[in-house]
Amino acid sequence: MTVQALLRRASGLSVSKSMADRAVRQRMERTGHDDSDAYLANLTAEEMTQLVELVVVPESWLFRDPQAFYATVELVQERWSRGRATRIASIPCAGGEEPYSMVMALRDANLPKQAFSIDAYDLSQACIERAQAGVYGRNAFRAQDMAFRERYFTPLSDGNYRLLDALRTQVTFRQGNLLQFDTKALAQRYDVVFCRNLLIYFDKPTTRAAIAKLSALLADDGMLLAGYAEVPSFCQNGFVPLPYRQAFALKKDDGRRPAITRAPAALPVAKKPALHSVAFMPPVTRTQPMCVAAPVATPPANLLAEARSLADRGLLRDAADKCHAHLARVPEAAEAYYLLGLINELACKMDLADDYWRRCIYLQPDHYEALCHLALLAERNGNNTAATTLKSRAARIYQRRQAGAGH
Ligand SMILES: C[S@@+](CC[C@H](N)C(=O)[O-])C[C@H]1O[C@@H](n2cnc3c(N)ncnc32)[C@H](O)[C@@H]1O
Repeated sequence: MTVQALLRRASGLSVSKSMADRAVRQRMERTGHDDSDAYLANLTAEEMTQLVELVVVPESWLFRDPQAFYATVELVQERWSRGRATRIASIPCAGGEEPYSMVMALRDANLPKQAFSIDAYDLSQACIERAQAGVYGRNAFRAQDMAFRERYFTPLSDGNYRLLDALRTQVTFRQGNLLQFDTKALAQRYDVVFCRNLLIYFDKPTTRAAIAKLSALLADDGMLLAGYAEVPSFCQNGFVPLPYRQAFALKKDDGRRPAITRAPAALPVAKKPALHSVAFMPPVTRTQPMCVAAPVATPPANLLAEARSLADRGLLRDAADKCHAHLARVPEAAEAYYLLGLINELACKMDLADDYWRRCIYLQPDHYEALCHLALLAERNGNNTAATTLKSRAARIYQRRQAGAGH
């Protein structure tokens, strides 16, 4: 079995050959092996865990795609008004950014502790330890409005910030692999499940298996929050979208109209950026096309232009920041992911470049340039089958464009 296949079996993650090989090299160095065959032949469960730690992508930040938190506050408020507490899960939680954002949003809305509970899981033990520590640096603070940092964090002498204990202790963290959750023991355990930015790393069969697990964990009248690019996968596997704009919220498809039909109230949460204002959309009915992205307000086009010009001048970090700022407003901006791919390629971070271009074509399957870059990268990694498929996809798009231009 290849290293990639071993990693997929252990974690569900589909990783590139170069990423898998690099992880093996790093572990061989660390454990004093110089023969990769011998190393792989004697892989213990503990060593496999260490390898997986090297391929996870624990990218997250506080108040990432914030409408999901506001939609959840609305749901918790509604249940609490009927005396019912809400059980929330964050899977995967990376370094705790997502569940802590949820706690802050609930606190901002003056909801008492008894109104909710939050469990957070991640495959990576290192992530869980970071989450439990509740200490964050600059990368975690990318939200538009940073007032929450003043309210809930203490600055440390090294430039980082520590979350207040009163909030930190409101999340229960556990290491866990979603694909191995005991869904009998946890059946319908949660009213709200966040599962954002995980399925994008899975292949189709693994995505289906993960969604089956999530469906089993979620109460029948519960709400699931996905990453933007993952909504279609949920819709293909038993979920329907809920009418919260830019929250990427779904429910199990029971053949009925969505139960939550009220507009989320204006919340006293950190002031929301205009482009993200919570707006009500008509309930999705069976006659409407499913999984159509909510209409997006006009994006601040110059952010991407600025990112390009910064990247051209070699200011890669600033360029990446601009892209993330753009994505905070327009999460489905394939072009921002494409640019992040280029920026990471310039920084020689090929795995991240690969990851961003994949996101780009997930969102915009006919993105010719991203397909070409991915094909070249696959070729460089010795993955000729993938390279050929990507190239022929790109070629078809090119021909279509040429034909279109000729008319
Ligand atoms: C990109 S982060 C997403 C974090 C957060 N949900 C967000 O959207 O910001 C992906 C996380 O998935 C975790 N992960 C990967 N495979 C997993 C699995 N099979 N079960 C649970 N967590 C997993 C990784 O360790 C990583 O921290």
